[in-house]
Amino acid sequence: MKLTMRLGARSYDIILKRGCLKNLHQFTDTARRRVFILTDSGVPAQYARTVLAQCPRGSVYTVPQGEGSKSLRVYGQVLGAMLAAGLDRKDLLVAVGGGVVGDLGGFCAATYMRGIDFVNCPTTVLAQVDSSIGGKTAIDLGPTKNIVGAFWQPKLVLADPDTLATLPPRQVANGLAEALKTGLIGDPQLFALFERGDPAQALEQIIYRSLCFKKKTVEADEHEQGQRACLNFGHTIGHGIEAVRGVSARRKTGLYHGECVALGMLPMIEDKALQKRTRAILRKLGLPTALRGDKRKILAQMQHDKKARGGAVTVIRVPGLGCWRADTVPMDELGALLGLETEALE
Ligand SMILES: NC(=O)c1ccc[n+]([C@@H]2O[C@H](COP(=O)([O-])OP(=O)(O)OC[C@H]3O[C@@H](n4cnc5c(N)ncnc54)[C@H](O)[C@@H]3O)[C@@H](O)[C@H]2O)c1
Ligand SMILES: [Zn+2]
Repeated sequence: MKLTMRLGARSYDIILKRGCLKNLHQFTDTARRRVFILTDSGVPAQYARTVLAQCPRGSVYTVPQGEGSKSLRVYGQVLGAMLAAGLDRKDLLVAVGGGVVGDLGGFCAATYMRGIDFVNCPTTVLAQVDSSIGGKTAIDLGPTKNIVGAFWQPKLVLADPDTLATLPPRQVANGLAEALKTGLIGDPQLFALFERGDPAQALEQIIYRSLCFKKKTVEADEHEQGQRACLNFGHTIGHGIEAVRGVSARRKTGLYHGECVALGMLPMIEDKALQKRTRAILRKLGLPTALRGDKRKILAQMQHDKKARGGAVTVIRVPGLGCWRADTVPMDELGALLGLETEALE
């Protein structure tokens, strides 16, 4: 399947097809230019090798797996390696991996020589349903997520569902949390795929529907001046939880991004029956439904969230299936979202 993200001069194709990783050279010039292939140590090396085989002037650079690589230190190392590889403004960076490699690689491409071409080959469910399209690239500053970044659209996205065969089940569920987010805010049929059958059996359809909704949203509001904010549903609380309980370079155990988003969505669903249905889906997927951990620490992180502006935070609420609303919540009322007054999350 091919989708086209229509953004004028920054338009690009999104290919969703089994085995498409082998065909990168058909979609972009990999023969004549230098190609810097960025991957991480947890991505099976065969995927970067598949890309390398199509790039006579290619090289592979591998960063350590995990959110810790979205750091200024690793960012500097990658830029140094790009310079050492002799990349110039006409060359190409290809990210092969999950959201970490995509966010880091996209930001390196956005800033190296004031911007070079970037192709994203997402290999996790999370990256295929969400992070690989839309042009948001970023790294973290300590526990503060995505605070240094740029809008930099890829030239092409190649989502090959075959690469998901090696993904551990917990990572599959982690990515499905972002797709469930999409169903809740804007696609009841996508929600139904989760509710009715086995989501693992409908993976390609789930990826396709998620990409369609995100594409439409980004086309309408590329730089998040308005409606693109709906994609942040679950993320205000989610990022707070991730900063405190997330898997990081310092802490090897904890919760993944999608797991934190899952927890962040529940209290923002206003319709109690829908909240119950969502909780049942989260259980079915093996995602967490109860927030454990120090809520005061999570609150402190939320107050540092980059979306905090002028003493207030914009949060996305879902009043009913397939619709959403942006609300401005004063800083001192954020605790209520976490159930610090009422134990809404338990
Ligand atoms: N830019 C955006 O719009 C956007 C949207 C959502 C999330 N994100 C970011 O995405 C990141 C999370 O992405 P993620 O969940 O993909 O995490 P990730 O990139 O860390 O990948 C998860 C793990 O799976 C491994 N892996 C990747 N592909 C694999 C494969 N095919 N087989 C086996 N193992 C594989 C990785 O090495 C890693 O250990 C977060 O940093 C989040 O902030 C960005
Ligand atoms: Zn997310």
